[in-house]
Amino acid sequence: MRTDVAIIGAGPAGLLLAHLLAQDGIESIVVESRAKEYVAARIRAGILESSSVDLLRSVGLGAGIEAQGDEHRGIYLQWPSERHHLDFVDLVGRSVWVYGQTQVQADLVAASEAAGRQVYYDASDAAPHHLDTDHPCVTFTDAGGAAQRIDAVAVAGCDGSFGPSRAAVPDDQRDTWERVYPYSWLGILADVAPSTDELIYAWHPDGFAMHSMRSATVSRLYLQVPNGTAVADWPDDRIWTALATRLGHGQDGWQLTPGLITDKSVLPMRSFVQSPMRHGRLFLAGDAAHTVPPTGAKGLNLAIADVALLAPALGDLVRKSDTALVDAYSDTALRRVWRCEHFSWWMTSMLHISGDPFDAQLQLAQLRWVTSSAAGAAGLAENYAGLPIGF
Ligand code: FAD
Ligand code: DHB
Repeated sequence: MRTDVAIIGAGPAGLLLAHLLAQDGIESIVVESRAKEYVAARIRAGILESSSVDLLRSVGLGAGIEAQGDEHRGIYLQWPSERHHLDFVDLVGRSVWVYGQTQVQADLVAASEAAGRQVYYDASDAAPHHLDTDHPCVTFTDAGGAAQRIDAVAVAGCDGSFGPSRAAVPDDQRDTWERVYPYSWLGILADVAPSTDELIYAWHPDGFAMHSMRSATVSRLYLQVPNGTAVADWPDDRIWTALATRLGHGQDGWQLTPGLITDKSVLPMRSFVQSPMRHGRLFLAGDAAHTVPPTGAKGLNLAIADVALLAPALGDLVRKSDTALVDAYSDTALRRVWRCEHFSWWMTSMLHISGDPFDAQLQLAQLRWVTSSAAGAAGLAENYAGLPIGF
């Protein structure tokens, strides 16, 4: 097969890139290792920054957000006996939207199918080749077992943290940075109306807890747990009791309503960056190039920002052989990536219990500052609500 851009990975980065390229008249073919149903069902991110929402709306992907999204003015930050609301709209003039990654993915799949774009699901052995030439290609085995090859002008590595693209960059031509955190999240999805109007991020001596949501009838909640925790160690009653304690059930009359848990999983937490985000004609985007711990709600938004920068760059390369934007892509994207890496690390470090009592006092001092100082609150708000795509 021959196309303009061969894309590895049909997550949000891969499918949005295909959509943006198509709007610009550039063809692509997407290769995905998992089944369409598996990709659609993954429960992951829940928060879109205002610039992500603006972008999705501007390319005809805003209808679902209008119909089912929930615009939030800010978040609550709390610790035992105190809960404070940070109003991002008042602080920095921007809001965020609760709109699940499953919904973003469904919108992207619907747009892809409506346009008849080629996506090979259930593909195995995907591998990029000839990246240091002008004629790169991707080989894979399709769902029927047939060997396939896509010749392209460029390859986009949108295959997440465990795909082949990241590793296709030779060791002596990349730098990597990594931090593994000494705790994980236990996440649940529950069929119960949220007990809060906006997200609650809670510091607690037992560990961090968060109350998020997906809709008026579905709640998403998280608990800090030790690394290596097994889901089986956390029966439903234990989860709701821990959430009630950490989120402050009874504090100033606030109540946490438990409900039927429909999904439970443990997520390790890691920061990772690979640089540059380009090797010859291979361009990395989203989790393929970087990972953030989830506390700042940045992963999906970074994937969206990367492809928003990459699509026009690839357009110039394919149409005009103009390399100015592709040459600038890695540096431009990494400036925002490192800002979000810092913010995610900072939110994570401020809210999770490390076991060191000195750390705990520093965290509480920081929480008091961001909730009582206009400058402190505006800094958090500016980062959480999101910087402009081209920041
Ligand atoms: P992915 O979504 O990982 O997509 C990569 C795709 O490539 C996958 O479909 C994968 O199957 C495919 N692939 C992998 N290997 C191959 C191969 N060999 N061949 C072909 N295809 C392959 N982010 C936020 O912004 N806000 C949040 O609130 C938030 N919360 C989160 C909560 C949880 C519980 C988790 C786990 C993550 C959260 N994130 C959040 C992060 C966010 O989900 C990711 O950053 C986002 O999915 C990145 O998109 P992506 O397309 O780059 O990668
Ligand atoms: C969700 C996940 C996050 O990591 C976060 O910071 C906020 C919300 C969520 O899944 O809803």
